[in-house]
Amino acid sequence: MSTLPQADRPIDDVQGHWLLARLGKRVLRPGGLELTTQLLDEVHLAGAEVVELAPAIGRTATLILAAEPAGYVGVDADPSAAALVVGERGRIVTADAADTGLPGGSADVVIGEAMLTMQSPRGKKAIIDEAVRVLKPGGHYAIHELGLQPDDLDPAIADESRKALARSIKVNARPLTAAEWTALLTEAGLEVEWVGRAATALLQMRRNLADEGVHGVLRIAWNLVRNPGARRRVLSVRRTFTRYADQLTGIALVARKPA
Ligand SMILES: C[S@@+](CC[C@H](N)C(=O)[O-])C[C@H]1O[C@@H](n2cnc3c(N)ncnc32)[C@H](O)[C@@H]1O
Repeated sequence: MSTLPQADRPIDDVQGHWLLARLGKRVLRPGGLELTTQLLDEVHLAGAEVVELAPAIGRTATLILAAEPAGYVGVDADPSAAALVVGERGRIVTADAADTGLPGGSADVVIGEAMLTMQSPRGKKAIIDEAVRVLKPGGHYAIHELGLQPDDLDPAIADESRKALARSIKVNARPLTAAEWTALLTEAGLEVEWVGRAATALLQMRRNLADEGVHGVLRIAWNLVRNPGARRRVLSVRRTFTRYADQLTGIALVARKPA
């Protein structure tokens, strides 16, 4: 990818994931690479027709392609997404995930990470419906998003955490509880088969070493040292995640379209 999305925006306005990407972070989803790996292990990628919604810089696309699917299509609203990573081995469509233009019943697996959380309730439903349309009967929809816990979380605290997130990451994030994510998928006609969780340790050292490697962590640290504005914002995002550490969780679900 030549230029990151929002590269021309001032550091104070850029959305949290693009801020982190600008600093050199490659894993941009709440449960980290470990939860992604667990999620991918739950679906059969080898020989499958795979559609990824919102590949962004293509970190998961690389993992999917390594599993040798029969085909890979990435769909991202941003034209600078993943093309370089995918190369000849798949194709990238620039489109809204709610209206991919892909043929119905064409995918064995649809995967989407860190992209439903940022949609309105109506937007979430439209994307899930589109995933169901694109899936073959018996196919699987795999998601990795931001969760709230426990299922009976006080609505006032849920609301407060959403507002704090929106302020610090500059994205109108609307995380849901496991019960709410499950209900959304079930209402779209899917059967939830698996739920996984991982702490939202996005900005903690151990997670970053696991996700980005030593070189990646040094690259991010160097960029933070050089850029006080970015450092201030990252610390603010980190404070929000720390404050709501008990309520926020990385959550992944696999749901099957009935045959
Ligand atoms: C937080 S990034 C996550 C990227 C990647 N899946 C990951 O986990 O590293 C969000 C991505 O979702 C894409 N996106 C958001 N809403 C979208 C929509 N309605 N249709 C297609 N892509 C969308 C953005 O362009 C961006 O690339």
